[in-house]
Amino acid sequence: MTDLTTLAANAPKAELHLHIEGSFEPELMFEIAGRNDVDLPFKSVEEIRAAYDFSNLQEFLDIYYQGMSVLLKEQDFYDLTWAYLQRAAADHVIHTEIFFDPQGHTERGVAFADAVGGIARALGDAQDKLGISSKLIMCYLRHLPEEDALVTWDEAQPFLSLIDGVGLDSSEVGHPPSKFKAVFAKARDAGLHVVAHAGEEGPPAYVWEALDDLQVDRIDHGNRALEDAKLVKRLAEEGMCLTVCPLSNLKLCVIDDMKNHPIPAMLAAGLKPCVNADDPSYFGGYVNDNFAALIAALPLTRADIEALLRNSFEGSFMDEGDKKAALARLDAYLAEAS
Ligand code: ADE
Ligand code: ZN
Repeated sequence: MTDLTTLAANAPKAELHLHIEGSFEPELMFEIAGRNDVDLPFKSVEEIRAAYDFSNLQEFLDIYYQGMSVLLKEQDFYDLTWAYLQRAAADHVIHTEIFFDPQGHTERGVAFADAVGGIARALGDAQDKLGISSKLIMCYLRHLPEEDALVTWDEAQPFLSLIDGVGLDSSEVGHPPSKFKAVFAKARDAGLHVVAHAGEEGPPAYVWEALDDLQVDRIDHGNRALEDAKLVKRLAEEGMCLTVCPLSNLKLCVIDDMKNHPIPAMLAAGLKPCVNADDPSYFGGYVNDNFAALIAALPLTRADIEALLRNSFEGSFMDEGDKKAALARLDAYLAEAS
């Protein structure tokens, strides 16, 4: 009988909520800072890790934007992405949908082409060398005005063949999804997928706005949706995937203890959560560490783990044939691991 942590760890899975800049391990950060001659306000890898002690989302974001400031060249973005993909392969991720924050780079003078080009080149190599398929989602920073997002949309036009979707991240409270209605309509009209962080720190009203004003295909986090029974009913009826991030929730004090994580309540309410790492280098673990932390703290059943794994593919933006093949691969694995 396979224990649940091993079952989840070895299962083929998709990751749907991963900020590539949040996978920046301090060792690589130092290496790239050195070759780019950029000063970091930390003397050692240990000092950086010690600074990763957050009491809310904003405290994390301040250090996250500082970390990404050493990324200057196409090769830097390639190396960052390739490092994540190798780590994902070790966790049996066979499909990943990653976020990047172009405004975090273009506002520092980095060319849009270098950021998206380096990331996309690594994703291409991952398909060829690691057998990992992927989608790339460009996120708008919600603390900036919608006008800035519209400029970014224009800058992205020559690269739309590399970009599959648009998302919304950064400081949630005070920056509701409705602020970005026009720029999201442009992405939908262009046939891109749309997602938004909502209900991480923000109220259920922000999840409603993500659904109604942005017409999202997925909700990133969605924890606070559980406070609103009508919203839970709507999300369940629509089969809306929630890309949930347990270790992130703990590190950013969205929950006080993993024992109180909302995943069991989401499953019981008929919602479709899946498990993701968010910003693994900052929050202490990749996707399998997130499964392990959940399983250690909560009375999850084998059926729960199977549902979480299935949701990762069902909620993905794979085309229908690829999705069916991935689900068949998961089913074969689960049948074998009894
Ligand atoms: N950017 C990177 N990680 C984020 C998170 N968890 N919430 C909002 N914005 C982010
Ligand atoms: Zn996130």
